[in-house]
Amino acid sequence: MTTLTVFGAGGDLAARYLFPALADLLAAGRLPGDFRLRGADRRDWDDDSFRHHVRAAVAGHPPGGARDTAAELARRADYAVTDVTDAAAVAEALKNLDGPLVVYLALPARLFEPCVRALRGAGLPPDSRVVVEKPFGVSRESARTLNALLSDTVPETQVFRIDHFLAKQTVQNVLGLRLANRVFESVWNAQNVERVEIAWEETLALEGRAGYYDRSGALRDMLQNHLLQLLCLVAMEPPRTLGERDLRDRKVDVLRSIQPTDPEAAGRHSVRARYTAGTVDGQRVPDYTGEVGVDPANRTETFAEITVHVDNWRWAGVPFRLRSGKAFGRPRKEIAVHFRPVPHLAFDQPHQAVPNVLRLTLNPDTITLDVNLNGSGDPFDLDPAALRADLAPQELPAYARLLLDVLSGDPSLFIRGDEAEEAWRVVEPVLEAWARDRVPLLTYPAGSTGPAPAAG
Ligand code: BG6
Repeated sequence: MTTLTVFGAGGDLAARYLFPALADLLAAGRLPGDFRLRGADRRDWDDDSFRHHVRAAVAGHPPGGARDTAAELARRADYAVTDVTDAAAVAEALKNLDGPLVVYLALPARLFEPCVRALRGAGLPPDSRVVVEKPFGVSRESARTLNALLSDTVPETQVFRIDHFLAKQTVQNVLGLRLANRVFESVWNAQNVERVEIAWEETLALEGRAGYYDRSGALRDMLQNHLLQLLCLVAMEPPRTLGERDLRDRKVDVLRSIQPTDPEAAGRHSVRARYTAGTVDGQRVPDYTGEVGVDPANRTETFAEITVHVDNWRWAGVPFRLRSGKAFGRPRKEIAVHFRPVPHLAFDQPHQAVPNVLRLTLNPDTITLDVNLNGSGDPFDLDPAALRADLAPQELPAYARLLLDVLSGDPSLFIRGDEAEEAWRVVEPVLEAWARDRVPLLTYPAGSTGPAPAAG
C-alpha cells in the first residue's frame, strides 16, 4: 500500500496545494491504485470531518475538483488527531501503515524541529521518505540544526525539501533552452550577458496568511528559496547528467560562488518595502499593517530586492537582480537575460537598436527573444521584433509533479541539505543589515509597480 501521511493536514498549505495536486494526479490516473492519504493534525477531527475537508479543498480546482474525483480522494483518506511534536503521538499516527512511509511535513517552520525530533523518536521503517516544506528553517543556523536532525532520522536521499518552483514548466525550460541549443549556451557568459533579472511580482496580497507571512516576509518567503533556485539554474555549469547528484552539485557550486558580502555592502544592494492601501484588479487592498493578524512592530517587508554576483570565471562582473513583491498592479514573473550590445553597429541610427533580451515568462508560459530586424520601409533602418514561443499549458501543476517524484523516490528536483544552508548564507548578510535598520523600509501603494530598483 502507498500511503502519504500529511502532518499539518488541517493547514492552509495542505488545502491550497497538496489536496488539489493529489486530486489532479488521481484524475490523470497517475496515483498508484492502492494510494491512501492519512491526515494528521492537532484539530479534533474524525475520518468523516477530514474527508469533508479534503472534498471542500479540491472543489473548484479542475480537473481534480470534479465531483467524482474529489469523492474518490476523500474515500481514500483517513485521519488521526496528532500532536506532531510528540514521539508517542507520532508513532500512534503511523501505526498500522506498512512498508516504507512517506511523511509530508506541511507545517509552520517553527514546528519542523520538534516534529523531526518526534519522528526520530517514533522511528521510521527503512526506506521511508520525509518531505519538508519551505522555508527550510529561518536562518543558516536553524537549517543546519534541522539537517542534522533529519540525517539522524532518514538518509539524505530520502529527504525531500520541496521548492515547487523547480517543477514549473518555464523554470524547467531554462534547462532545455540552455543545454540543448548550441545558440544559447555559447553566449551564456559574462562576455555576452550584461545582467540578469529574476522577478516575481504578483497581484496577490496577504490572502489571510499573516500567521506565516508576517514572521517571514518577502526575502525569506521568495528570495531565499524560489528565486535563488532560478538563479542556480540560469548560472550553473552544464551538469554531466540531469541525475540528482550532478544537477544538485552544480547548483550548490553556484550558491558557493556568490560572494560573501558584509551586511554593509549587502544592505547597499538591497531594497525592502511594504505595501500601503490601494487597488488591485479593481479590489481595495488595505494597508499591510491593517491586514488581520499583522503586527506592525515586526516591520515585515512585502517586497524584497537583492543584487548578487556569481564570482566565477563564467559570470564575473554580471549582476543578478532578484525582486519579488506582493500586491502589485500587474503580475511580472520572469527571468530576463539582458545581452550586451553588438561591438559595432553598421546602421546609421544606432539608437534604433534594442538590446537582445531573452525572457522566460511564467503564467502564461512563454519564451521571447527581443531582436533587431531590418525596417520594412528603409532596409537600413532597424525595427525591433520578438521571436516568441508559447508553451502549451502545463500538463500537471508543479505540486502534482513533485508529489509524483516523492512517490517514485526521485529527489532531483528537491533541495539538498547543503544547498539549503548555502542559500541561507547568501541572504543572511541582507537580513542582518535589515535587522540593524541599515536599509530603510520603504512603502509602495498596492496596485503600483513597486519601488524603483536599487541604483548600481
Ligand atoms: C509560495 C509563497 O511559496 O509561492 C507565496 O509562499 C507565493 O507567497 C507563491 O505567492 C507563488 O507560487 P504559486 O505557484 O502559488 O504562484
